[in-house]
Amino acid sequence: MISALLLVPAFLLAALSASAQPLVDFQVAQPPPLPQDAKQCTIQILERTFGNSFGDPEIVQFTPPTDCGSVGSWAGISLNFTVTSNGTQFDRLGIFTFQNVEIWRTSTPEPNIGDGIIWTYLKDVTRYLPLFAKPGTLILELDNLLETGLDGQYATTLHATFFASSAQNPPAPRADLIVPITTLANNTGNDASVPPIFSLNITLPQNTVEVYAELQASGNGDEEFWYFNTANEFINDLPSGESLPNGPFREVRLLVDGQVAGTAFPYPVIFTGGIAPPAWQPITSYGALDLPNYYLDVTPFVPLLVDGNPHNFSLDVVSAETDHTINQNWFVSGLLQVITDPSGKPTTGKINVYQASPFAETSTTGSVGSNGDVNVTVKATRNIHVESTIISGSGTTTNVVFTQSSSYSNTQNFLNNTFIQNVQQTATGSVLSTHNGVASTVDNYSFPLTIDITLQPPTGDSFFATFDHSYTRTILPSPFILGSTIQEHQLANAFFAETAQGNFGNGTSNNTLSYVDLQGHTYDREVDAINDVIVSDHQGGNLAPVPTPESVPVANPTKLNFAKPRLPGRRTVGNGQ
Ligand SMILES: *[C@@H]1O[C@H](CO)[C@@H](O)[C@H](O)[C@H]1NC(C)=O
Ligand SMILES: *[C@@H]1O[C@H](CO)[C@@H](O)[C@H](O)[C@H]1NC(C)=O
Ligand SMILES: *[C@@H]1O[C@H](CO)[C@@H](O)[C@H](O)[C@H]1NC(C)=O
Ligand SMILES: *[C@@H]1O[C@H](CO)[C@@H](O)[C@H](O)[C@H]1NC(C)=O
Ligand SMILES: *[C@@H]1O[C@H](CO)[C@@H](O)[C@H](O)[C@H]1NC(C)=O
Ligand SMILES: *[C@@H]1O[C@H](CO)[C@@H](O)[C@H](O)[C@H]1NC(C)=O
Ligand SMILES: *[C@@H]1O[C@H](CO)[C@@H](O)[C@H](O)[C@H]1NC(C)=O
Ligand SMILES: *[C@@H]1O[C@H](CO)[C@@H](O)[C@H](O)[C@H]1NC(C)=O
Ligand SMILES: *[C@@H]1O[C@H](CO)[C@@H](O)[C@H](O)[C@H]1NC(C)=O
Ligand SMILES: *[C@@H]1O[C@H](CO)[C@@H](O)[C@H](O)[C@H]1NC(C)=O
Repeated sequence: MISALLLVPAFLLAALSASAQPLVDFQVAQPPPLPQDAKQCTIQILERTFGNSFGDPEIVQFTPPTDCGSVGSWAGISLNFTVTSNGTQFDRLGIFTFQNVEIWRTSTPEPNIGDGIIWTYLKDVTRYLPLFAKPGTLILELDNLLETGLDGQYATTLHATFFASSAQNPPAPRADLIVPITTLANNTGNDASVPPIFSLNITLPQNTVEVYAELQASGNGDEEFWYFNTANEFINDLPSGESLPNGPFREVRLLVDGQVAGTAFPYPVIFTGGIAPPAWQPITSYGALDLPNYYLDVTPFVPLLVDGNPHNFSLDVVSAETDHTINQNWFVSGLLQVITDPSGKPTTGKINVYQASPFAETSTTGSVGSNGDVNVTVKATRNIHVESTIISGSGTTTNVVFTQSSSYSNTQNFLNNTFIQNVQQTATGSVLSTHNGVASTVDNYSFPLTIDITLQPPTGDSFFATFDHSYTRTILPSPFILGSTIQEHQLANAFFAETAQGNFGNGTSNNTLSYVDLQGHTYDREVDAINDVIVSDHQGGNLAPVPTPESVPVANPTKLNFAKPRLPGRRTVGNGQ
């Protein structure tokens, strides 16, 4: 008996004694700012367990509900995606495509312990109301793979809740038309993989007067840790295989007939298997369950687009290298929110100013020490200015001014024979478009990220990692879509080890979020976790839920059976050099 006990490590005993209750994972985020006093109608859109699901997305037919007022008259719409999983599995990307428009990009937290995990994310999708007001196809692509050591399946349900409009809760303002910039595929998620550049012919109605773009983009494969990829000028100063090429700067570009219409310096989403999985459990990295979109005003191009002919809309992702090359691959998509003039008559107008270079201005500097230290800094700036006059068929003249200014800096340090690998990156910028002097689209952002990774001597079989990550953003996606300001800060620490008994580790995560929007909704949350246990949690503001009893923490301080972490540069644990 005693000898048997001695053979069982203490952390295993702790795992065995844990209560059979799934761990509740979550991303810190505001609840959808929708009227709780409104009549609500909830429908189930899909239910599906994703086992071996590569090439086998869930494809369902959606019919708008008719019991919450007339179709399309709703005050708002939210989605509830609830998922459970057991066993061990990687994080997986989830892409919701509705009527050929990507409406939500998410990823899965990783299950890794016997009692499984569960999570729910509620997403406000009111801005896609024109799509929900007609029947159509919804596709959830969630490519999961079962193999030895990776047995986790993802059991998913998706519900949509429609909020009836009333005198207190007016119908949500909406575009006349939403046009996808996607692959338009009917049998899989509609995001395009770049490179090469993705292009699509789009013909807009000739009475189009306003066009607002949303872009979605995430790095995958050799681009998952794009911010840790090293400039080609210095990559050969690192041991072979230590990092990936083509540098850390990425710009997502939207081109109209080959001309840059606007760009995004993307937020670095860290997936839950990224670098140190224990850091992202139970609180995922910010954005992992709801990847951010980027907002642009394409209205200045309306004079080009209203000729009734197809126009070439392109999406790509470029680097600071001389040939602008990136690795494989980024998944990109876009959509256009279009307003037409009620007269039905063609719009006319003229582009008066167009100042945008094809690529950002960039610089790469660095130094290599005699001890092998490598430090590299990549910087970028970008300015765009487009002005147009638009005359609607009804005779209204609008002067549109679109400006975008962005700056970026990334410093990588590879020290102590690469046992120390640090990155400090920041992207800040602003998008402002005005229509007759009134702000129409705003996207002001600051996305600083610091990661320090320290591999433990002598083998590098284990490592410590710290993350300091912020998302500060004021957006007005269009004059008819609710604007908001979010300030989120996440500090996370983790230890990870690969041993003969399995992959294990521990971690802490401290988060503060504040949300305020132009309808006066407010929300804040301060929540800290240590080793799967929520040690403090406060929610405030008028969107905060009625307090619910604390969930029982899983008393399992050392976690077992993590999937292998993915490290920058395709490095594996124990192979740090
Ligand atoms: C979300 O859906 C799950 C089940 O799919 C349900 O248990 C949960 O109560 C829902 N949450 C909200 C806020 O509607
Ligand atoms: C996880 O395990 C529980 C208990 O055995 C089971 O009820 C549930 O269906 C499992 N979920 C998945 C996604 O396998
Ligand atoms: C998707 O289906 C629609 C309607 O059946 C069809 O018009 C379109 O060509 C299909 N798209 C692709 C890429 O197959
Ligand atoms: C887009 O339309 C142009 C002009 O009609 C045509 O020449 C071109 O081949 C089309 N491209 C694609 C990708 O369909
Ligand atoms: C569309 O524009 C992109 C970017 O300039 C270009 O690479 C592509 O060849 C164009 N496609 C067509 C059909 O003209
Ligand atoms: C690299 O940066 C580190 C940290 O700032 C510094 O200590 C070291 O001296 C630098 N080495 C070189 C070669 O620039
Ligand atoms: C640098 O690496 C050596 C082993 O190669 C180790 O002894 C030392 O502690 C490391 N220094 C730091 C600051 O991690
Ligand atoms: C956005 O940023 C610009 C430039 O810093 C600033 O002038 C403007 O006031 C900001 N707008 C909002 C709504 O925060
Ligand atoms: C988070 O806060 C806890 C106390 O609540 C502290 O022990 C821990 O070190 C903090 N972690 C980080 C990464 O700051
Ligand atoms: C995680 O484990 C490491 C290595 O055993 C230890 O130094 C660290 O204190 C632990 N951290 C937490 C939060 O338990």
